[in-house]
Amino acid sequence: MTRFLVTGASGLLGLNFALQAAERHDVAAVVYRHRLNQVPFDVFSYDLSHPGQAGAMLEQTRPDVIVHCAALANLDECESNPALARRLNTDLPAELAQEARRRGIYMLHFSTDAVFDGQKGDYREEDPALPVNLYGETKLAGEQAVRTENPDALILRVNFYGWSLFGKRSLAEWFFYNLQAGRQMKGFVDVLFCPLQVNDMIDILLGLVERRLSGLYHVFSPESLSKYQFGVNIARQFGFDEGLIQPTSWNEGNLQAVRASNLTLSSQRMAEILGHPLPGQAGGMQRFYQLYQQGYPQRVLAMATGA
Ligand SMILES: NC(=O)c1ccc[n+]([C@@H]2O[C@H](COP(=O)([O-])OP(=O)(O)OC[C@H]3O[C@@H](n4cnc5c(N)ncnc54)[C@H](OP(=O)(O)O)[C@@H]3O)[C@@H](O)[C@H]2O)c1
Repeated sequence: MTRFLVTGASGLLGLNFALQAAERHDVAAVVYRHRLNQVPFDVFSYDLSHPGQAGAMLEQTRPDVIVHCAALANLDECESNPALARRLNTDLPAELAQEARRRGIYMLHFSTDAVFDGQKGDYREEDPALPVNLYGETKLAGEQAVRTENPDALILRVNFYGWSLFGKRSLAEWFFYNLQAGRQMKGFVDVLFCPLQVNDMIDILLGLVERRLSGLYHVFSPESLSKYQFGVNIARQFGFDEGLIQPTSWNEGNLQAVRASNLTLSSQRMAEILGHPLPGQAGGMQRFYQLYQQGYPQRVLAMATGA
């Protein structure tokens, strides 16, 4: 049994990771503003925007493995608060990587497809990164700092969707709840991505942690699609009216941060390590739907409210 420390455990990835890891392992979860109730793991609260907190957190929780999910992951919030974006997305991972190395703790860190400018697509790990917004810029600096401070760390560029604490952390939930309410919404036809269903992705991550893989890898679906098509897939899977989604260009979306157009990334290297291709879009959407049928969104919401 491994003792995991999961930061950002109230976020989309952190919460799902902590729940899945707790089925077989000992988990210490760290949150900040959102407390968790009735969860099968220990919960601690830290404001990791303060320098020095990373060391204190490790001293208190004493993990074998750090799964670092805390970040400022909202693109538009990064533009409005660049200092916080730098602190959380660049300086904190660097500090944690240094502390982990000093203490001999294995670290898993997450970066993003948004380190690329989206001009080319099908990006591989060795392609030069060129972010077009502050989120991508601070995350790129974060992954580089982790590589420098801790060569044994595993850094994964990812993009994922799933059910989160309040139903607001993923694009899939945004489409789902708008479609369910019968509201019209826009779907970008000119932004391509290759997301994984978060629980499918976590199954892969748990295997990588066991192998103590290190270095930088892409973990994405081999099948890409536009954000518009992603919304249509949700409508079809759940039996909603796909006509509610208007095909639009991201330029018409009134967004603060610039969006890169073609964020398709190749996970060929990861597929070779796993010995099989990464999951496709249909299987991921089915798991998202099955979890809904099993009442997973309500179970997760009850963890926020203690209901
Ligand atoms: N979502 C995606 O598709 C995607 C794509 C590419 C990369 N990623 C990366 O994957 C990782 C996880 O993303 P996510 O979507 O799961 O993020 P998320 O849902 O936005 O969650 C962010 C987490 O960070 C915590 N946090 C924020 N400020 C903090 C602070 N000052 N001190 C301590 N914790 C703080 C939040 O805690 P509270 O809620 O308790 O305040 C929350 O648990 C991030 O590194 C992100 O950049 C995500």
